[in-house]
Amino acid sequence: MNHFLDIHKTDPADLRAMLDQAHAMKRARDGRPKAAADDSQPLAGHMVALIFEKPSTRTRVSFDVGVRQMGGQSMVLSGADMQLGHGETIADTARVMSRYVDLIMLRTFDESVLLEMAEHASVPVINGLTDRTHPCQIMADLLTWEEKRGSIAGRKVTWCGDGNNVCASWLHAAGQFGFDFTFSGPAQFDPDPEFVGFAREKGARVVIERDPFKAVEGADLVVTDTWVSMHDSQSTRERRHNLLRPYQVNAALMAHAKPDALFMHCLPAHRGEEVTSEVMDGPQSVVWDEAENRLHAQKAIMRWCLGV
Ligand code: CP
Ligand code: NVA
Repeated sequence: MNHFLDIHKTDPADLRAMLDQAHAMKRARDGRPKAAADDSQPLAGHMVALIFEKPSTRTRVSFDVGVRQMGGQSMVLSGADMQLGHGETIADTARVMSRYVDLIMLRTFDESVLLEMAEHASVPVINGLTDRTHPCQIMADLLTWEEKRGSIAGRKVTWCGDGNNVCASWLHAAGQFGFDFTFSGPAQFDPDPEFVGFAREKGARVVIERDPFKAVEGADLVVTDTWVSMHDSQSTRERRHNLLRPYQVNAALMAHAKPDALFMHCLPAHRGEEVTSEVMDGPQSVVWDEAENRLHAQKAIMRWCLGV
């Protein structure tokens, strides 16, 4: 069963094939109206469930549009409105959903929910973000990097801020695609050592550098994300902001990276917090391409899951 649960759990050759297919499918659609069908309709006859236990704009819309462009049908479901949110077990939900749909995309809190869904579903399950990781986002980010700069192998990526779920999937990608990864943030928000360990075991150079200005030196790509994720309690907001403020990505910080460095953010961004508008809207920012590429990357992920 081809579940797409995490970048480190997916064969690097498969990840490569998905990105190649995403590039090709994107090129083939060039200039086409958004609702126009792709030339081939690999998802014809397929039904896809998109389940959200957390808010979403990009994941929700890009998966839905992607299914339709490939000839399939989709339904967007809120976890809170399902029996799942009212006591039915994940395992039973997985068994029932597998009788109706061919593919399940799930955005949830605890990773164990995703893993239980995958274990008991008889159809593929895609991780649409958990508290721990966000693999679809990083597939889109890699697609974006490759479009702009070619291979990411041997390049230096610097993450500034909270070592969160998006940072974790970047670390997985560092291991699978062979690039250097520097984390810069307060020790309280270091990425889980398990993620760092994976990247290092695979031979990636991972550096923890508390000084953000040193961290971005020689960086080809600077990345950040919100200081308060959906799984973080709002009561920690002030403390997080106080600790993370020195890691804001602003023009002064970007000036210390390579002159042609790119800037990425998975969005939604909090302008004036983790990133300034000057950087978000500046010439080094590729955030809108990243957002668009969620669509193209996920279309390839869905095809891989379904083997079509
Ligand atoms: N980047 C991302 O996953 O955005 P959404 O929360 O809007 O889906
Ligand atoms: N780290 C963020 C990513 C949102 C796409 C969160 O989990 O809220």
